[in-house]
Amino acid sequence: MAFESKIRPIYWDNGVSKMLDQTIIPYEYKYVEIKTGDEMFDAIKTMIVRGAPAIGIAGAQGVVLYAIEGSKKYSDINEFKNWLIQKADYMATSRPTAVNLMWACDEQKKVIKNSASDIDGLIKELTDKAVEIELDDIERCKKIGDYGAEVVPKGATILTHCNAGALATGGYGTALGVVRSAYAKDNTIQVFADETRPRQQGARLTTFELAKDGIPVTLITDGMCSYFMNKGMIDMVVVGADRIAANGDAANKIGTYTVAIAAKYHNVPFYVAAPLSTIDISIKSGKEIPIEERSHEEVTHINGKRICAEGINIINPGFDVTPHELISGIITEKGILRPDYNKSIAELFK
Ligand code: MRU
Repeated sequence: MAFESKIRPIYWDNGVSKMLDQTIIPYEYKYVEIKTGDEMFDAIKTMIVRGAPAIGIAGAQGVVLYAIEGSKKYSDINEFKNWLIQKADYMATSRPTAVNLMWACDEQKKVIKNSASDIDGLIKELTDKAVEIELDDIERCKKIGDYGAEVVPKGATILTHCNAGALATGGYGTALGVVRSAYAKDNTIQVFADETRPRQQGARLTTFELAKDGIPVTLITDGMCSYFMNKGMIDMVVVGADRIAANGDAANKIGTYTVAIAAKYHNVPFYVAAPLSTIDISIKSGKEIPIEERSHEEVTHINGKRICAEGINIINPGFDVTPHELISGIITEKGILRPDYNKSIAELFK
């Protein structure tokens, strides 16, 4: 059952991409226009748009923007295609961990390679594909939500980490899609949202979108999850993912692994919710997932103000990998995968 979100983080509008600037939520709620491929690359890198499925949508739109620019430089279709394929490859490098970005750029490369149209016709095909990827994501997330809602106990308190919501997708959410679908059936459920340092996607984005939809949410800091699990106040954990290996190991925002260990210790079910485009069957385990190293300022500063001594060492990995043995189930648009993930994932991609 769908509980419509009021948020549409990114959409294509007559030759430009319009996206909510997620770096300024909750202080401001403002759309920005992205008009060139290079601007899209920067928007992804600087996290104006973020979240695995949303940066996939952005990447697909970025290829269209490059195509529009290229049409002013090239008249030969083959030269145009060769140039555009290089640009699609470049767009795929704007962030390294979420495989949805590479997947969406690959989808656009398939359109380029298979097209028999002229340049204008190819731009139309690429635009249609980008819009399809966006709208399709909303439908997939609703299915994820509905499958996930089946395992949410009545009146449950669901802990989530980071933001795997409408803002991170086409507009419904993966982990928060499960919350939305569960809430539509049972409005006594509630969410505990981890703050998610350093960029505070939980505090800034998850609480914002749940509050906007009227779904009860309690903000906690990252170190508090064991405390509340020990008190019996968390019934399940649902998080999103940026890349899932063939054995079920799942990369998600840094700190997710800690939550999974705490959940295992306290016998709290730990679910990962993600579309099939997040599963990378080309890699055997999470060890092969590239982990983004982000700016040290994200750790040393809050709201532009330094919070620690000068001259100290900083390390800032953006993601960690939760080993498959800590994951109770992977909720996809095709149903809930259970261990042994090597088998259940392979079955899905047969
Ligand atoms: O660095 P971010 O904000 O892009 O990280 C986002 C996450 O880790 C999400 O949980 C993940 O992308 C899943 S979004 C449906």
